[in-house]
Amino acid sequence: MQGDMDRETRLIEEFGLRSITGQELGIDHYFARRGIIFACRGYEELMEALQSGNFYTLTGIMPSSERIHLGTMAVVEAVKCFSDRTKQTILLVADLESLATREVSLEEARRIAFEFHIPTYLALGIDPEKCVFYFQSENKDIHKIAADASREITLQEFRAVYGLLEPSRIISSLYQIGDILFPQLVRPMIGVIPVGLDQDPHIRLCRDYVRRSKFFQFKQAVGVYIRDVPSLKGEGKMSKSEPHAAIFLPEDDYKELKRKIYKAFSGGANTLEEQRKYGADLEKDVPYKILQFILKDDSELQRIAESYSSGQMISGEIKEYLYQRLVELMQDLKAKIEQYRETVKRKEIRIISSARELAECLA
Ligand code: TRP
Repeated sequence: MQGDMDRETRLIEEFGLRSITGQELGIDHYFARRGIIFACRGYEELMEALQSGNFYTLTGIMPSSERIHLGTMAVVEAVKCFSDRTKQTILLVADLESLATREVSLEEARRIAFEFHIPTYLALGIDPEKCVFYFQSENKDIHKIAADASREITLQEFRAVYGLLEPSRIISSLYQIGDILFPQLVRPMIGVIPVGLDQDPHIRLCRDYVRRSKFFQFKQAVGVYIRDVPSLKGEGKMSKSEPHAAIFLPEDDYKELKRKIYKAFSGGANTLEEQRKYGADLEKDVPYKILQFILKDDSELQRIAESYSSGQMISGEIKEYLYQRLVELMQDLKAKIEQYRETVKRKEIRIISSARELAECLA
């Protein structure tokens, strides 16, 4: 992963982030062990949070299409890394942001969240006993913070973080600050926010606001950054705007899934002979990189890395292997999603709409 590392080191320095290792985190989860969680903003606060256990874990996901892709799955997995230590896990449905930036109605967002997203998070292992959910549009408390933050942040600052300034972005960013801090209306506590690196501008603005806010007593929020799941094209990250280069959960058409994977950008040489001779370049190989996110068994991953980089295994074989693992994952998920859809229907999950309701869960 040297290529990624170089890019990341540059980003880390440029943006004033701090790289972190699984050891420092003291978390025994494959995301931590493999460096998928690779950097943070707010190292001191993160260490304090992990040592004291006095923190909440929160992230938000936009309900803009029915199925999530592997990149969103990675965010959910990262949230799970903290679930044993945290006082509370909070997953929010960013429906106002989807309305403002993706033209998804609130009704549609609600349907997608209840029928697809929330059941999928539970199927991926989010414990409904330990997690609370909310919709941005229903949580009146985020608006109080958003309004206060709007006074403390200048247009210049928005411009500096986003480049492009649009009302929809400004309002979404203010809501996001409201999201990140609202649990502290119950009591001040560090917030740990696992996200992709693209969310760092929001974390920066939020931290600047925390330092300035006069009316609220907030502790800091920490951005915990996870590596991007690569696009199947080999350039950039997986995204739902490029469905041919993304893997969705679940994928209904396995033939299509297979086709996509077989076309994925390979780190193997061009001919079979060269593949045997030189082995594959694991830094460039998309199927291998995706396996890092989904294959939980370290020794199995190691076995594949050795065999593929030495030319024993060839690119067609790793693609077939990835395909098989994904089919297993999807079959397992499909059954669980069905089951958790019933859990959601029976209202056996906690949906809150204010800090007061969150206080009841925290008690
Ligand atoms: N902006 C995030 C995205 O584009 C979603 C989001 C909304 C979020 N509120 C949040 C993420 C709070 C983390 C914390 O995906």
